Amino acid sequence: MVSVKGLQLTLLVVLLNATAGNAYRWFNWQYEVTCESDGYYAPLTEKGLSAWLKVQYTQGSHIKVVGNGHGFNNLTQCVDTSLSNKTSHIVSMTNFKSLSVNKTAGTVTFGAGWDVFDIINELKAYDLSFDNLGAERVQNFVGAASSGTHGTGAEIQNIASQITGMRVLDAMGQTHIFNDTATPEMMKAFRINLGALGVITEVTVKVQPTILLKKTTKVLNATSNYTEMYSQMSELYKQHDRMTFWGPHFDWNEETKTFDIEPQYYYSYWEPTNYTDVQNCTVNYCSDGCGYCLSEYTCYGETSDAVSDPPQGTCSRNFYAEIEHFFPIKYLTDAAVNYTMFQRSQIPQMTAGYNDVMIFQIRHIRGDDSYMSPLNTYNLPDGESDVFGVIEIDWIQKYNNFTALWQNQDMAFSFLPQFGETYNVTAHWNKMLPPTPQYNLERYPMLPKFLAIQEQMDPKCQFVNTFLYEQLGIERCANYLTM
Ligand SMILES: *[C@@H]1O[C@H](CO)[C@@H](O)[C@H](O)[C@H]1NC(C)=O
Ligand SMILES: *[C@@H]1O[C@H](CO)[C@@H](O)[C@H](O)[C@H]1NC(C)=O
Ligand SMILES: *[C@@H]1O[C@H](CO)[C@@H](O)[C@H](O)[C@H]1NC(C)=O
Ligand SMILES: *[C@@H]1O[C@H](CO)[C@@H](O)[C@H](O)[C@H]1NC(C)=O
Ligand SMILES: *[C@@H]1O[C@H](CO)[C@@H](O)[C@H](O)[C@H]1NC(C)=O
Ligand SMILES: *[C@@H]1O[C@H](CO)[C@@H](O)[C@H](O)[C@H]1NC(C)=O
Ligand SMILES: *[C@@H]1O[C@H](CO)[C@@H](O)[C@H](O)[C@H]1NC(C)=O
Ligand SMILES: *[C@@H]1O[C@H](CO)[C@@H](O)[C@H](O)[C@H]1NC(C)=O
Ligand SMILES: *[C@@H]1O[C@H](CO)[C@@H](O)[C@H](O)[C@H]1NC(C)=O
Ligand SMILES: *[C@@H]1O[C@H](CO)[C@@H](O)[C@H](O)[C@H]1NC(C)=O
Ligand SMILES: *[C@@H]1O[C@H](CO)[C@@H](O)[C@H](O)[C@H]1NC(C)=O
Repeated sequence: MVSVKGLQLTLLVVLLNATAGNAYRWFNWQYEVTCESDGYYAPLTEKGLSAWLKVQYTQGSHIKVVGNGHGFNNLTQCVDTSLSNKTSHIVSMTNFKSLSVNKTAGTVTFGAGWDVFDIINELKAYDLSFDNLGAERVQNFVGAASSGTHGTGAEIQNIASQITGMRVLDAMGQTHIFNDTATPEMMKAFRINLGALGVITEVTVKVQPTILLKKTTKVLNATSNYTEMYSQMSELYKQHDRMTFWGPHFDWNEETKTFDIEPQYYYSYWEPTNYTDVQNCTVNYCSDGCGYCLSEYTCYGETSDAVSDPPQGTCSRNFYAEIEHFFPIKYLTDAAVNYTMFQRSQIPQMTAGYNDVMIFQIRHIRGDDSYMSPLNTYNLPDGESDVFGVIEIDWIQKYNNFTALWQNQDMAFSFLPQFGETYNVTAHWNKMLPPTPQYNLERYPMLPKFLAIQEQMDPKCQFVNTFLYEQLGIERCANYLTM
């Protein structure tokens, strides 16, 4: 006999299977990271998500929560259906759009569905600003924070460091509330969680009354005396708190099959201002790494307008490989010189063609104490500056050719083994970092603690994928495809 309750359960199972029946292929934004899942699930409520997770837990299904896919490596790759007999799900939190501002506390609490672009505009309506943002706004906020996205500045930390509280569901569907007052240690684990610890449904983030900035862009002469060029940058870093060098730039020379350094490059720095007559940083974004803007100018704007790019439209970069490495700032000149020399030694291997331009970006950023932050300060000797130097190299292609992209990505992997130990390098998560769990254990002394929490939150390794398994060395999940 079928009871009413049983009927509901049957219906529920049918509905869940209906979702799972719709095979869904996931791609990152430049279509080179992909996976086939059994279904795409975008819950409407935390309660619904919790009930769904409980069912998935009994089955040990694979679950990958994704944002907007603005990453290079396989961090957000679901377990491909070809690899496992268990059901594999993509989860998007896009429907979680709650938002409440507490001006007294100086915080905003919002659902995990908000994209950076939209949340910034929402805050403007309340005369509020984030002080810490990445250079772009296309990402889902929680996705960007969870993977350690950051901007630039000696007093600026990664965007996750602004998070003061959150709600997270574990693999069993149970809700956890963490915050700086009650559970500060857990916050260190969860701010940069790499999607490994559960499903974040809501975050509380520190905000400021509107911050206005003046942005100044200056042109510098480049030189192939790299020591001279990078020493000049290191000197300028002593003068400006918030600064980015958009360069040097190198152009592919098809005749000589090499990259030629461009004679000039430029840098921008930002300062607080009270000037309100003109807000003109949005007039163009050419200097934000999106386009090319070799000219000197100043502009004024609210923080986000002054430091970051809006999404699609202005910036249509794709098919490029990228590394982004962090190290104690004292190594800046030496590391930048050696990275540049090492890159040049790789050029003969870039035979697949379609090379266009290669851009170095040099920044600095302040450290923090999140367990999995590439900027974690746990290893710093006493008295050492907690500011880190940042080297980014972008290899941008002329055409969307996969052969060339794979080749550039393979080359990108070689920088960490070359320089890691010398400069105490950490790599931006999800940007072409080779799987080196032993090395990561050195660079992230809190990794064992992180993994202990991972086990509590996800006993059956449902949130684990190849990337997490290989990067973090989650040995208990060695059989996550079949366990
Ligand atoms: C990502 O995963 C695919 C398999 O789906 C693999 O071929 C590729 O090498 C991986 N990419 C990176 C950067 O690890
Ligand atoms: C899936 O199930 C089939 C049939 O039981 C088995 O032969 C195969 O090894 C399983 N594959 C995995 C990845 O577990
Ligand atoms: C706002 O924050 C203040 C200070 O932390 C707190 O006392 C108050 O209860 C909060 N208001 C709401 C509506 O949560
Ligand atoms: C902080 O978290 C605890 C539970 O760990 C909760 O009781 C408390 O209400 C939270 N505080 C805020 C301000 O959300
Ligand atoms: C760059 O070099 C040109 C001459 O080649 C010189 O006139 C100019 O002052 C230099 N600019 C800077 C910022 O050093
Ligand atoms: C490169 O610049 C450095 C620092 O300015 C200088 O000491 C060195 O002599 C230069 N090297 C060459 C080959 O010009
Ligand atoms: C802006 O105005 C305030 C109040 O007059 C002043 O304290 C502050 O120094 C000014 N800031 C700048 C950058 O000029
Ligand atoms: C922005 O406005 C200021 C003040 O009028 C002006 O000096 C500057 O050139 C303008 N910048 C741009 C990019 O239009
Ligand atoms: C960095 O460059 C210096 C000077 O060229 C060299 O002595 C050193 O071995 C290089 N270090 C690495 C790790 O490449
Ligand atoms: C991509 O580039 C490789 C190497 O030049 C070439 O063999 C291949 O045909 C290209 N693929 C496409 C689709 O153009
Ligand atoms: C580099 O890392 C090691 C641990 O791997 C640590 O002992 C040392 O203090 C670090 N040095 C700097 C400058 O961060």
